[in-house]
Order: sequence, then C-alpha cells, then structure tokens
Amino acid sequence: MNDFSESIIEWYEKNKRELPWRNTNNPYYIWISEVILQQTRVDQGLPYYIKFIESFPQIELLAQAPQDEVLRLWQGLGYYSRGRNLHFTAKQIVDDFGGIFPTEYKNLIRLKGIGSYTASAISSFCNNEHRAVVDGNVYRVLSRYFGIDTDISSNQAKKQFQELAESLLNKNKSALHNQAIMEFGALQCVPKNPSCDKCPLQNSCAALQNKMVDRLPVKTKKIKSKKRYFNYLMIIDEDERVLVNKRTSGDIWEGLYEFPLVETDDEMDFHTIASNPAFKKITSKRKYNIAAVSNVFKHQLTHQTIYCKFFTLKIKDCANETLFSIVKWNEFDKYPKPILIQRFYQINRLKMK
Ligand code: ADE
Repeated sequence: MNDFSESIIEWYEKNKRELPWRNTNNPYYIWISEVILQQTRVDQGLPYYIKFIESFPQIELLAQAPQDEVLRLWQGLGYYSRGRNLHFTAKQIVDDFGGIFPTEYKNLIRLKGIGSYTASAISSFCNNEHRAVVDGNVYRVLSRYFGIDTDISSNQAKKQFQELAESLLNKNKSALHNQAIMEFGALQCVPKNPSCDKCPLQNSCAALQNKMVDRLPVKTKKIKSKKRYFNYLMIIDEDERVLVNKRTSGDIWEGLYEFPLVETDDEMDFHTIASNPAFKKITSKRKYNIAAVSNVFKHQLTHQTIYCKFFTLKIKDCANETLFSIVKWNEFDKYPKPILIQRFYQINRLKMK
C-alpha cells in the first residue's frame, strides 16, 4: 500500500465525523448526500439531507412528488438546477430502471446531473469500484502534498489531478480512501491557516517543505460578477391575497416563485419605479398605493450579485388578474422561493400577525 493512502486512511479512522451517509451502502442515499454536498459544507448540508431522506425515504416517493415540494425542500441550498435534475433523475430511474439505482460508474455517468465526481463517489462508496473522487478538497490536498502549481480552473488540471488521484487508490480500498481524502481536506488540510504542525503528512508534504502552503492550489480564473437590480412588487389586496409568478427557464431560479418583478439597470425608489414601463404594465389600470419600500437585500450568486428591493403596493382587489397567479399570503409560505424572498416573507409575516 502506498504511504499517502495509508496515512490518510489512518488519520481518517481517528478523526472522522459520524455522518449518516457513511453508514449506508444505499446508492440512493449516497446520491442525495453527494448532490447536496457538492454545493454546501457538511454542517449546512446535513439538515437538508435529513429532511430529504425523511420526506422521501425511497426513490419512488421522490419521483412521485410534485416539483414544488422538491424545490421547497431544496430552498436555501441554491443551484436549483441540481434540485430539478435530482427530481428528473429519480423519475427516470423509477420509470426506466424499475427503481433500481445503478452503482456502476459507466451507468451512473449517463444520468442527468451526475458527472464524474458523483459517479466516482457512488460507485466507489457502494462497490469499491476503482474510481477516485476529485473535488475542491482533493485539489487542495494533492496540489499541496505533491507541490503542483497547475491552475486548478484549467482543463489540463482536471485530467492531471484525476490521473494522479486514481494512481493513489489502493485496490479494494477506494471507498475508504475517497472518504478519507475528502475528510482530510475538510478538517485538516483546510484552505486558510491549516495546522501543519499536527499533520501526519508534514514530513512528506512538498508545499510545507517549500513554504508554499498558502500559495497552493493555484486558481487564477476570477469570476466576473454581474450586478442586477430586482424590484419586487408585493401587490396585496384587502383580503391579504398577493400576486405571484413562477419563474421559467433561461435565467436563475427556474421553477421558483416570486412577486411580480421589474428588473432595472440601477437602484430604484418609489418615484422612479412608478414611471417604469414594466411597472406600469404590471399595475395596468389598477389603483394602488405604495405602502412601503424595503431596504436593499443583497444576494450573492456565483456569477451575479442581486440587489433587491420590495415595494409593497396595496390594492383593493386582486380579481381579474391576467398576468399572475393569486395566492393567499399565508399559503405563500409553502411555495418554493429564492431565499431573499423567503427572508422578506418572514419579516413581513411577523409584522402581519
Ligand atoms: N463532501 C462531499 N462528499 C462528502 C462526503 N461523502 N463526506 C463528507 N464530506 C463530503
């Protein structure tokens, strides 16, 4: 057995966290955990995993659920396309594979939303298939240990690190090795100020020997963030009914619900919004009164920053609405929505009580 694998497995046995997906070979549960953990840290993802498994203990239940229910459980995790793909793939497995979740890499990789990371995780955890996981943790651990300064956002790095990671696996130990390297990256070889003096690999780590720990991994691609200004119109009538819109494809938050939206190039106030053509179209001939304008809610996504304001418009009656759906304010809680709308909703729910 190679020293690297042996050392991290030994470290793992002593330091690992007890996590529910580590006590199962059920590929469905492992799949749910891995999709959630691709975008979240373990402490944030764990409650979502528990809620998901409680709500859908079998894949058939996930497949049968309405999309709104799945997205409502996903709410707050972000990257909603992953939640939609999860639902799609559950339906496909039930319809086309009799509900039997595949465990071989070659079958997993064909499924929507399952890339090489997730297929490697499931096939190694369930069957010890000889597949190495390569995620952000693994890039960090390997780039430091072997002193590799290839830019990890390049295509070249993907191939180089995948090959290296695979070469480190020991036969029949893939599951343990993969869990170990990820846990090692999450707890020991952390991005900032790792405690190298406590590291079992300190004598053979190239980055430590060469004082490069804080410079590896190398990642040059700076993501440009686009600014967007969302003005939500919380149009509420005397019966506490609001107008809502379900977002469609082609932009962020597909399938989530929101208030009527006026997107602008700049920040708006209640004067400027009232003369905006999209605002006029939404309010059409209704008589309204702008009762409140919220502070700006800022929301950071991977490639965009959303600056969002809520304008509360009181109207007499929502009836005869053609552009939007009408929903009782209290019922809106059940709808899946972007987290900044949920925040606004919660603040106002307290006020309305
Ligand atoms: N991050 C991604 N997958 C993980 C797993 N199985 N355990 C802990 N952290 C993870």
